[in-house]
Amino acid sequence: MSAQTQQRRKTVLDIAKAKQGDPLVCLTAYDAPRAALLDPFCDLILVGDSVGMVVHGLPSTVGVTMEMMILHGQAVMRGSKQAFIVVDMPFGSYEASPVHAYENAARIMKETGCQAVKIESGEYAGEIIAFLVERGIPVLAHVGLRPQAIHVDGGFKAKGRTKEEREKVLREAKAASDGGALAVVVEGVAEDLAREITETISIPTIGIGASAACDGQILVTEDMLGLFDWTPKFVRRYGNVRGEITAAVEGYAAEVKARSFPGADETYALKSEKSLKIPRVAGQPGNS
Ligand code: KIV
Repeated sequence: MSAQTQQRRKTVLDIAKAKQGDPLVCLTAYDAPRAALLDPFCDLILVGDSVGMVVHGLPSTVGVTMEMMILHGQAVMRGSKQAFIVVDMPFGSYEASPVHAYENAARIMKETGCQAVKIESGEYAGEIIAFLVERGIPVLAHVGLRPQAIHVDGGFKAKGRTKEEREKVLREAKAASDGGALAVVVEGVAEDLAREITETISIPTIGIGASAACDGQILVTEDMLGLFDWTPKFVRRYGNVRGEITAAVEGYAAEVKARSFPGADETYALKSEKSLKIPRVAGQPGNS
């Protein structure tokens, strides 16, 4: 494909425009085929560390590694063409110091080709964000409910329900904006707090369980496709993938047991011995 016909990927400038108008459409993806399906409809695709729970069956995102994020980030980059791609920095890869964060963020960007990284950002993270942005690494911040902090919070708890907590989340969002984050994910907060954050800071807010008062929305794709039998209150299901997979696998199992699969149409027939092509299998002789 020539440079002229190649589809242009969205940039930080396209994401920034959401502050003036159209809400940002964002979803998570972890592999190439799903990224390809989501890509035409999404402004931003996040390779979230939720991959640990959704794909790898971990109990939380705490056990996710750099290697996992890089592998899934590479797959999503291969599958997508136009969406802005952000890869999550896993727990333990950025909190200790700006230099530590820079080394890991630069590795993620080099090895995946993604356009930005995301960090779950407490107030302390303003300094880290500024350090990365000044050195060429765009950062998506994440405030409110921070899944990597579940062991401090005692579970996945909505945030900003007391005056002190409200002020804390607001300070976290301001620290991210002042540090130069490109946008901020606001998770698990009440509508009035989401509105106040959105009206106070100059960068787009992307809500998840944070009402329609944000500049965009993100969901874990498998949640909104209906892959799980339980989803959080804030998820709307747009599909029933769980039901479809169950019905398909049930049908397959029944037909294998009944010997009605494979049928004649799904079976190779012998043409003639001369024209018979034996596919080449690694390490074995063949004639095709
Ligand atoms: O890891 C993730 O998928 C996320 C989204 C829920 C925002 O952080």
